[in-house]
Amino acid sequence: MSGLDHPPVVQHPSYGVTPAGTDRSVAAARHLWGHFTNQGVWAGGTVPTVVRGEGVYFWDGAGRKLFDGLSGLFVVQVGHGRVELAEAAARQARELAFFPLWSYAHVPAIDLAERLAWLAPGDLNHVFFTTGGGEAVETAWKLAKQYWALRGRPHKRQVISRAGAYHGTTHGALSLTRISPYVEPFAPVVEGASEAPSVNAYRSDQVFWDDPAGFGAWAADGLEKAILDAGPDNVAAFFVEPVQNSGGCFVPPPGYFERVRQICDEYDVLLVSDEVICAYGRTGGYFAYGDLGYRPDIVTTSKGLTSGYSPLGAVLVSDAVYEPFASGETYFKHGFTFGGHPVSCAVAWANLDLFEAEGLVDRVRQLSPSFRAELEALKDIPIVGDVRGAGYFFGIELTRDQATRERFTEAESDRIRAYLNPALYEAGLYCRADDRGDVVVQLAPPLISGPEDFRFIARVLREVFTEVATGL
Ligand SMILES: Cc1ncc(COP(=O)(O)O)c(C=O)c1O
Repeated sequence: MSGLDHPPVVQHPSYGVTPAGTDRSVAAARHLWGHFTNQGVWAGGTVPTVVRGEGVYFWDGAGRKLFDGLSGLFVVQVGHGRVELAEAAARQARELAFFPLWSYAHVPAIDLAERLAWLAPGDLNHVFFTTGGGEAVETAWKLAKQYWALRGRPHKRQVISRAGAYHGTTHGALSLTRISPYVEPFAPVVEGASEAPSVNAYRSDQVFWDDPAGFGAWAADGLEKAILDAGPDNVAAFFVEPVQNSGGCFVPPPGYFERVRQICDEYDVLLVSDEVICAYGRTGGYFAYGDLGYRPDIVTTSKGLTSGYSPLGAVLVSDAVYEPFASGETYFKHGFTFGGHPVSCAVAWANLDLFEAEGLVDRVRQLSPSFRAELEALKDIPIVGDVRGAGYFFGIELTRDQATRERFTEAESDRIRAYLNPALYEAGLYCRADDRGDVVVQLAPPLISGPEDFRFIARVLREVFTEVATGL
């Protein structure tokens, strides 16, 4: 009887009672609808409840202290419990809690837009605020459509995204999200989104294993093919993450983005860099496209912009894409009541102040190699296949055979995943074994983490992966 068949059962006792006197687990199962959550598990009394955070840690309702190896959800860059951000929110709420950006501007939005334009390399000088990442993606698609219509190319309305990518869950963003179990229940979604290859080098054809540049050219050619299949006159934009999260931190192969840019230029397709995860230090710069050295037309961001202390998204737009909207004869027919909320903009400003004061972007650049080295050292465990990523954003893919990269069967993958998540949690590490496809553990700790934290992460992973390897 192996340990793998008996994953630890993490107990989540109810965290007290609600103000109405209801046991909180019961109230949660009855009234709170979790996102991507199996309510049946909650109804069974298992409601993981998080109650407090400080620095790189949070505490759950059972009083356990966990290392936040995922920054909540790639969000809490500056760590939990930062008084500076709480105070910035309170100050702004006292000054002006709300005003929309519909024909009026307010001070926190003006100042933040200027600061983002200044931080963004190149001519991404115009900022459209949203409340989150999916809204930013919706905004970019609609902007691309209206842009091409104003340029006299009204048929350019379709979009392309990469295999396995996640771009959000609203109908438009969902069309770009290429994870079929998330899309199928809602079909038909917005028409006109097609697929280009991902840059999953580890799972590429074996001929590319020692030829990353060849793989990059192949993947970029796949974009060209997708544009030609849809008809260049119909394609408005290509959406791409600098480092693709879904599937586990796919970094672009050498030459990939150069070729993608050329293709986009050749066929008049806008290049949208979806940096909802990658921006604001995650991959080691304020904007990942700057680090990777390509020139997008539109950049979508959210998560780390406020470190999660208040919701906000920002779409950055190039001078050229902004130009037809600049004359005063027309306007972008799009908006959200809470997009660019004053409190969120003030929090983002204070968050960026912390980035500067604590040199977080430089910190990530300097310390990323030691984080990588800790994770690479796990390769002496026979099931650790690939360690990939950038900055403070890594994925570790498990394999049956390091030499052949043999995949686990579906049943084995399910067993491993069922074991990994509770075992890691029990050991004090909150991170994620991606619940689709190949078994990949994802790590994205707060940017304030350091070498001691990397050692802790590696120690826990070593223990748990070794258990898995021996239990197979
Ligand atoms: C690359 C990317 N785009 C868009 C989104 C959607 O963001 P949100 O959940 O804020 O709508 C996400 C969410 O994780 C993402 O990773």
